[in-house]
Amino acid sequence: MLALNYRGPYRVRVSQKPDPMIEHPNDAIIQVLRACICGSDLHLYHGLVPDTRVGHTFGHEFVGTVVETGSSVQNLKVGDRVLVPFNIFCGTCYWCQRELYSNCHNTNPQATAVGGIYGYSHTTGGYDGGQAQFVRVPFADIGPTKIPDELLLEDAVLLTDAYPTGYQAAEMGDIKEGDTVVVFGAGPVGIFAAKSAWLLGAGRVIVVDHLDYRLEFVRKFAQCETVDFKSVDDMAIHIKKMTEWRGADVCIDCVGAEAEGSKLQRLTGVKLKLQAGAATVLHWAINSVRKGGNVSIVGVYGPTLNAVPMGNALNKGLTLRMNQASVKRHLPRLIEHITAGRIEPHKVITHRMPLEEAADAYHLFSSKLDNCIKPVLIPPGVNV
Ligand SMILES: NC(=O)c1ccc[n+]([C@@H]2O[C@H](COP(=O)([O-])OP(=O)(O)OC[C@H]3O[C@@H](n4cnc5c(N)ncnc54)[C@H](O)[C@@H]3O)[C@@H](O)[C@H]2O)c1
Ligand SMILES: [Zn+2]
Ligand SMILES: [Zn+2]
Repeated sequence: MLALNYRGPYRVRVSQKPDPMIEHPNDAIIQVLRACICGSDLHLYHGLVPDTRVGHTFGHEFVGTVVETGSSVQNLKVGDRVLVPFNIFCGTCYWCQRELYSNCHNTNPQATAVGGIYGYSHTTGGYDGGQAQFVRVPFADIGPTKIPDELLLEDAVLLTDAYPTGYQAAEMGDIKEGDTVVVFGAGPVGIFAAKSAWLLGAGRVIVVDHLDYRLEFVRKFAQCETVDFKSVDDMAIHIKKMTEWRGADVCIDCVGAEAEGSKLQRLTGVKLKLQAGAATVLHWAINSVRKGGNVSIVGVYGPTLNAVPMGNALNKGLTLRMNQASVKRHLPRLIEHITAGRIEPHKVITHRMPLEEAADAYHLFSSKLDNCIKPVLIPPGVNV
């Protein structure tokens, strides 16, 4: 089959790889119909995720058709169209029982924090991902959700990660009726967090980024105010000015380790790797939220350490919540939002490209060229 093949930082190519096979009775093989590239894939592409091995196939946002099932699979049959959450989870361990699917204890023997993730290096289990023609899906009775007939494929693929992650970001902010919510990052995750904040009762939503085209998009898509951080001297003071000097009720980090905006953070976090990514947005969020406020973090950081102003968080009495999203938990509610017409996730997709052009798609998305917000890859022969 054709599959994305990681060759080293900033180098991916699409080449032939053996077709995946059933390795366990509860596996299924999925023929991929659509696979998105995520902001998280950029951390891999930029060589920032430990143990990203040459030859690995990325891709944790995909939908497809079941083409083979293992002998114990009961909930899926050949021909079913499924969306596959980015988390690989067993459904039965201590954490899965508490719906913390992203922290499943059985799917990632390499680490005790995060569970398995498709196509996300050996740090998250070494599973090959969905930017390919076919992919092996373990725990096939547990992870995949059949795509309801009324759902567009492009809405379904955004339900595998970006939309549920944005939703969980807003949910972890514990937004109260009328709250002022600041979302850092106007990528797909931030865009969905902003939209979800309204649905959870926010009275005011402000999105911060420095890319004009994304700020323009989010203003329309999520009817929010925006701040271009290039034009701001001190973020905390700016947000306080906008909020009668109290600060925001809730700040949400949808940027993570590769944040721009501070030369010192870029140097220590990205270039010299003295911390697990630039902590710029963690500083901005902790310092811009009001005393007693909530900070929610879904932007991804590496597994070691970051220098964050913990004393400020303590003295202000903040609540900090964070996690990789537990996608499956949110699906019933989010499918309802889509079918009721409250949100059209597919509108964030700006680029539809053949799988064979994945290297161009990565370059475009990474460098934020051609007003790219979200690229989706289409494997050969499946343009339905
Ligand atoms: N926790 C999870 O489950 C989960 C799931 C998906 C993605 N993520 C993470 O969420 C983050 C966003 O993903 P995405 O797909 O939207 O990525 P993206 O790269 O498309 O968007 C990131 C945006 O942040 C902006 N930005 C950079 N520095 C900033 C700053 N200092 N302040 C405000 N904005 C800034 C960039 O201009 C860009 O628009 C990534 O770190 C990704 O790894 C986490
Ligand atoms: Zn992702
Ligand atoms: Zn589990």
